[in-house]
Amino acid sequence: MTVLSSALDVGGQDYRANREAMLAKLADLDTEHAKALAGGGEKYVERHRKRGKLLARERIELLLDPDTPFLELSPLAAWGSDYTVGASLVTGIGVVEGVECLITANDPTVRGGASNPWSLKKALRANDIALANRLPCISLVESGGADLPSQKEIFIPGGAIFRDLTRLSAAGIPTVAVVFGNSTAGGAYVPGMSDHVIMVKEKAKVFLGGPPLVKMATGEESDDESLGGAEMHARVSGLADHFAVDERDALRQARRVVARLNHRKAYADPAPAEPPKYDEDELLGIVPGDLKQPFDPREVIARIVDGSDFDEFKPLYGTSLTTGWASLHGYPVGVLANAQGVLFSAESQKAAQFIQLANQRDIPLLFLHNTTGYMVGKEYEQGGIIKHGAMMINAVSNSRVPHLSVLMGASYGAGHYGMCGRAYDPRFLFAWPSAKSAVMGPQQLAGVLSIVARQSAAAKGHPYDDEADAALRAMVEQQIESESLPMFLSGRLYDDGVIDPRDTRTVLGLCLSAIHTASFEGARGGFGVFRM
Ligand code: COA
Repeated sequence: MTVLSSALDVGGQDYRANREAMLAKLADLDTEHAKALAGGGEKYVERHRKRGKLLARERIELLLDPDTPFLELSPLAAWGSDYTVGASLVTGIGVVEGVECLITANDPTVRGGASNPWSLKKALRANDIALANRLPCISLVESGGADLPSQKEIFIPGGAIFRDLTRLSAAGIPTVAVVFGNSTAGGAYVPGMSDHVIMVKEKAKVFLGGPPLVKMATGEESDDESLGGAEMHARVSGLADHFAVDERDALRQARRVVARLNHRKAYADPAPAEPPKYDEDELLGIVPGDLKQPFDPREVIARIVDGSDFDEFKPLYGTSLTTGWASLHGYPVGVLANAQGVLFSAESQKAAQFIQLANQRDIPLLFLHNTTGYMVGKEYEQGGIIKHGAMMINAVSNSRVPHLSVLMGASYGAGHYGMCGRAYDPRFLFAWPSAKSAVMGPQQLAGVLSIVARQSAAAKGHPYDDEADAALRAMVEQQIESESLPMFLSGRLYDDGVIDPRDTRTVLGLCLSAIHTASFEGARGGFGVFRM
């Protein structure tokens, strides 16, 4: 029997307290998501509607197949910055005419849909996802181009947007641009670099320079329509392949374009899978509000994998890391989940072996994070924790099967790297509201700073001010704590979104389906030198 048993006491006090803490965090998350949905706010939404236009998410909804999900990515981009939450751009994966596509839509209610540094990061992340997973890319365009006051941050790196579009095309990944409004100057290259272009009558404005600029440059008198209207581009310049009479017609035509792409997935869809034996709702009560308390990740695995069926690998060895085989919505996965928080030498070696096995078998890997990092201390240093941790990081870096990461709890220090943190290019990375990630815990970091400051004062022969030290520690602790929280990290695009734990199986299933659009093969060799 490999079906996991559960020891979760759903009537117990701990469970109830954990659940309450998680629900409170989810309520805060809802508040922040609502800001992204509100876009530029009532005034600008109203004005947009009065112009007879649809909102970005309404456009996406009409583009997608009816009653199919949309996996929105990075909705909290720009959180904690001076820019509007969501970064004036909506991105995500959805199904159009049965084809999973990567969709981006400017939000014209936020500063005319202009791109700020976070919009750029979000757009580039979307392009990476399209490329890695071979997803056709549909851009729903209406943007004031670069956010002019922040041009220094975006002008030079922003060229990558157009570069990516043509590289996608070169890789045989279709690109479609639907232009609903302004798409001028640099923005003109979005339709310019796309395989298929649809423009909306009397609304699309696609030109390198508008009438005032043309007048300044050459003295020529012109107007928007003759310079860059849909009719002109459809009949004269040939930049528009399709002329749409209105927004709905444009979205209908986009669906027809996708229907004719002949874009095929590398793998057939798996047969419908058995749901977990335990209620996904119980995922709310597993992670303790205080991350210092450990929890058994098998309780999580039991609520996300098919039939709660899990074949554990090396269960008696390196027990602080649980590894094993399962399937999720019918897709085989190898799971690595932190059990007691700390990674020791045995756990690191076990992980390296397990990652190699998954590569030999072409099985994607799922990393479930709750780690305070690799173990420190004389005994462990002498036992070779650096070289063993390096083995795990080598394995995860050079692994070629797709990786998925979910930050459930702590994800600190090099443990974040070994468990396939953002810099290790997991295909997708999501965080639960309970997650925290930083170079180390806030108390430890503040303590280290204090010790260093004390030693420095002693070396210079200066007296040490204990009162100032306590104040500094408190301030640093607070700063690091706030910088470790998922909304802050999501705002900086360090994940693809903060998700409700109850949605984990669904979100991972959508990601695995997208991943299986492109073929992949594990690394048979090609790892760096494993330091023994
Ligand atoms: N950078 C920074 N802010 C911008 C912006 C940009 N590129 N485009 C628009 N905004 C701001 C406006 O200043 C305005 O702010 P406010 O409401 O606080 O005054 C808000 O966004 C809405 O713009 P508005 O012009 O009222 O909206 P609109 O829907 O009538 O027109 C545009 C939208 C994009 C057509 C128009 O704003 C425009 O032409 N912008 C400049 C386009 C451009 O030349 N970009 C450079 C290309 S690289």
